[in-house]
Amino acid sequence: MSHDMSEEKLPESHGSAGDVAAHGDPFADPGLPAHEPRRTDIDERAAQRAERQVSLMFVVSMLATIGFIASYVAIDPDKIVYIFPLGHVSALNFALGMTLGVALFMIGAGAVHWARTLMSDVELPAERHPIEADDEVRADVIEQFKTGAAESGFGRRKMIRNTLIGSMALVPLSGVVLLRDLGPLPEKKLKETGWNEATPAQPLQLINMNTNLPMKAEDIVIGSLTFAMPEGLHVHDEDFQQAIAKDALMLVRIAPDDIKDDRSREKGFEGILAYSKICTHVGCPISLYEQQTHHALCPCHQSTFDLADGARVIFGPAGHPLPQLKIITDEKGYLVATGDFDEPVGPSYWERAR
Ligand code: FES
Repeated sequence: MSHDMSEEKLPESHGSAGDVAAHGDPFADPGLPAHEPRRTDIDERAAQRAERQVSLMFVVSMLATIGFIASYVAIDPDKIVYIFPLGHVSALNFALGMTLGVALFMIGAGAVHWARTLMSDVELPAERHPIEADDEVRADVIEQFKTGAAESGFGRRKMIRNTLIGSMALVPLSGVVLLRDLGPLPEKKLKETGWNEATPAQPLQLINMNTNLPMKAEDIVIGSLTFAMPEGLHVHDEDFQQAIAKDALMLVRIAPDDIKDDRSREKGFEGILAYSKICTHVGCPISLYEQQTHHALCPCHQSTFDLADGARVIFGPAGHPLPQLKIITDEKGYLVATGDFDEPVGPSYWERAR
């Protein structure tokens, strides 16, 4: 809505026209304060000193990045040092944090010092205008950009330009060397589990994880779910968590006629089937079993496996069935395995066939 102030009468209390004349126009544009030249604007030696200071900051940034890479290569990741007031910290983490912090800080500090001492600080008013610029305005903007670039000294002050480019080019290397932490390649570690030690001549017993006792086939009833691990593995072993993350078994007994997959039936013993407990999506332990449907559900993202059909994925993000362990019984009726799983356990990765 248009609102013409010139036609509006001021209330009496705002004073008379004589008052306005006496105090001047209250809405007058105060304009910009006069520009005061800095020392570096009038003293070339001061400008050169500032230039050296800025370059020095960029050089320190480069040295810090080199220090970051050297620390990453040279410092033992297990080394602990005492640093006041932090206390005992990892020497490697401390060195990486400090060097990367200095590298980034010095680029920022150099840029700020450059702007405050050497770049033009003359304020220029920009009149309001329609958002869409016409050709004349665009040409004006380009001209202003060129003037700004020239006044920043980026082209003229080669020492600053070169050191800035050097420090900006080096800093990303800090991230590149950290890629080493993605390795080493897993190689056989993900393909083999503790069941790998089982052979037909020397089978490994299945140990009930609740009772720590070997399991007899006759003790496993139809519809039950039991968790098992290989004999020789003990809860108090130092590497127990690492081992059980691959070795854990889920044992179910299904009426043989209900088993749809023949290969799966052959790997089991009289309807007792042993599958990996590790979800093939991202490796959560599966713990929910519905005995009527024979479905096992992973609680993490609801992948559902049909244990009566070779642990086929029937729902959810898992990419392939649960690996199955072939089991038989020994002469005393205990359940044993004679080899490793038929597939690598856990999530897919680039080295597995599917
Ligand atoms: S880990 Fe099992 S569904 Fe994601």
